Amino acid sequence: MPQTLSVIKADIGGWVGHTAMHPEVLDLGRERLAQAVQSGLLIDGQAHACGDDMFLVMSHERGEDNTEVHEYAWDTFTAGTEVAKKLKLYGAGQDLLADAFSGNIRGMGPGSAEIELVERQSEPVIVFMGDKTSSGSFNLPFYKMFADPFNTAGLVIAEALHQGFAFEVHDLKNHKKIMFSAPEELYDLLVFIGSPAHYAIKRVIARSTGEVAAVSSTDKLSLIAGRYVGKDDPTAIVRCQNAFPAVGEVIEPFTTPYIVEGFMRGSHYGPWMPTSLGDAHPARFDGPPRVVALGFQLANGRLIGPRDMFDDPSYDNARQKANDIADFLRLHGPFEPHRLPLDEMEYTTMPAVAAKMANRWSEV
Ligand code: F6R
Ligand code: MG
Ligand code: MG
Repeated sequence: MPQTLSVIKADIGGWVGHTAMHPEVLDLGRERLAQAVQSGLLIDGQAHACGDDMFLVMSHERGEDNTEVHEYAWDTFTAGTEVAKKLKLYGAGQDLLADAFSGNIRGMGPGSAEIELVERQSEPVIVFMGDKTSSGSFNLPFYKMFADPFNTAGLVIAEALHQGFAFEVHDLKNHKKIMFSAPEELYDLLVFIGSPAHYAIKRVIARSTGEVAAVSSTDKLSLIAGRYVGKDDPTAIVRCQNAFPAVGEVIEPFTTPYIVEGFMRGSHYGPWMPTSLGDAHPARFDGPPRVVALGFQLANGRLIGPRDMFDDPSYDNARQKANDIADFLRLHGPFEPHRLPLDEMEYTTMPAVAAKMANRWSEV
């Protein structure tokens, strides 16, 4: 019987402002998941926080896009929203864009990444949680993990990885998808995924076995709501070892704090800082954006973990570099390239200011 690992996440209220989750809301998530395990809906479930987002990590036998699992996640977020409202937390229910659940959580605000798998003799997986950034931010790390031999030695020297990986890329605005095979089509792949605001890697597949190696959430809140409602704060699941990159190869890309969009008001570029769970509460200029890596061994669907993978001094340099990059970018204040280009900002006063100034422009 294949199992499914589902990570469904939402921002349902921040403490303080947009910086962190309140423990009472997280406890509610944990209690609800414990009940779901008891009732037999889930094999196992854990709730974790990165910044102001709650990530429900759920293991079950119901497949991807399962109505009961999605509805349970939705109900957990609505129950958490009630706690957030009681505490008057900031932006209570922020990501819940629909009035009522209707069959599938996709398109309703929360982000999701799900992977159906037949558990190997030993099944190490990493669940990544991001805050103050966007879907598409996993493009570069996924490329490094699954296509760059300078990151993943196994692509060159391990038989099981040598055939390469296939990438399913989604056009986020036009709701289309396409497959690329690496290494043959690397240059074509990069034309698209180098623009993460428009194209995001949804899945990576091992060409040797056809198994899904990785999946990320590609839900874009602003495209769902048609207006700014917060950043997407993405999640990803990556399987490790044997036919997949080793754990150390999967987390290696985050030794460089690549620049992603998000940060203050979802309208700036900033470095993506890898941190432990304990440091995953972006404060300075509502950032810098964070990424946490939770390692698990699956044992017949049970989540043995997490190991907090970036709680490791070997990521200190990346954090230092992220602070240096943030300092430098901040010096640009309201200027690009710290501020996002006009058409990509989540907040803008441009239409109002442009209207006010309309009759003051003259020909040159
Ligand atoms: C970015 C984010 C924050 C808010 C900012 C303003 O993803 O969540 O940077 O955009 O704190 O928030 P509001 O508009 O709620 O006052
Ligand atoms: Mg928030
Ligand atoms: Mg958030």
